[in-house]
Amino acid sequence: MNSDLLAQDTSNEIQDTFPINGTDHIEFYVGNAKQSAMYYMAAFGYEIVAYQGPETGERTKVSYVLQQNKIRLVLTAALSPDDPIAKHVAAHGDGVKVLALWVDDAKEAFEKAVERGAKPAFEPETVEDSTGKIVRSAIHTYGETIHTFVERKDYNGAFMPGYEPFVSKRKPSPVGLQYVDHCVGNVELGGMNKWVEFYQDVLGFKLLVTFDDKDISTEYTALMSKVVSNGNGYIKFPINEPAAGLKKSQIEEYLDFYRGAGVQHIAIATNNIIETVDNLRANGVDFLRVPDTYYDTVLERVGGIQEDLAELKRLNILIDRDEEGYLLQIFTKPVQDRPTVFYEIIQRRGAKSFGKGNFKALFEAIEREQELRGTL
Ligand code: FE2
Repeated sequence: MNSDLLAQDTSNEIQDTFPINGTDHIEFYVGNAKQSAMYYMAAFGYEIVAYQGPETGERTKVSYVLQQNKIRLVLTAALSPDDPIAKHVAAHGDGVKVLALWVDDAKEAFEKAVERGAKPAFEPETVEDSTGKIVRSAIHTYGETIHTFVERKDYNGAFMPGYEPFVSKRKPSPVGLQYVDHCVGNVELGGMNKWVEFYQDVLGFKLLVTFDDKDISTEYTALMSKVVSNGNGYIKFPINEPAAGLKKSQIEEYLDFYRGAGVQHIAIATNNIIETVDNLRANGVDFLRVPDTYYDTVLERVGGIQEDLAELKRLNILIDRDEEGYLLQIFTKPVQDRPTVFYEIIQRRGAKSFGKGNFKALFEAIEREQELRGTL
């Protein structure tokens, strides 16, 4: 055998010691799944595709599965106050419980992760109904968040065994949300490196980029961030921790309200951010606002872009550029009562980065919101 080829094969194997196909779904624990599902449908254009609850034989909880292109969200609520889901919501408010990863072998993934130091959340289990079977297992990550490994090669149903297709008379208009670009975790002071090492050691992720408080600080507040990514690059997890500043940082505000570490924002990719944001605004989604003066000088920083700057200004969409291209992004306000989880809408035109050039304008916008909440 050609030795060069062999070397190539070996290095590829070393590069990805933990194959993950992509994000399977994101599950939120919420106080009222029925009403949250309606919000995601009306505001973000998701279709409700599957349901599990008392009517399907599930006695302890209800779950609605929402889908738009490759994004699948699960909204789950408890039916009794003693249920762990109810306790999770009492402690954290509505928030992300599960970042589920799609793998070819959920048993092998679990065993490998645990062998490398992950704390098990639940052992591999096979669930089955007339639509097929899935195998799932789970490990803990930061806070009370878990990663479920989902193996679905023998499954053809609505979402998972136990769920039934959801039939709705109402078909929402999709707004062009395509896939999960990245999911950001906020962790306690001193926790960032621990969790970056966890993703490196346990899930074979690579460190992509580091931001320190010089990159991400305003007059008042600061944070540090490192981004890790899996072998095929489909999963990107930035991890933030607060840094010392004159006033309370947005990360500390999150940790106070969420009562610990958890998912801060989910970035969703679109192929046409102008159309997507126009639709989302019309549906009543609230976004952070940067001052109009942002647009006076932005092209000096990012150079030529294909979009009409007046349209970007009208919709308050931000622009940044790196060596490989540029990106357009915008951030919603928190989507539940506590100032915790929010969304980013992102369109990448070559850029693989995260919008470092917008951090200052963005964090000043967040501080204005904090000021209104009296938490700065
Ligand atoms: Fe982001």
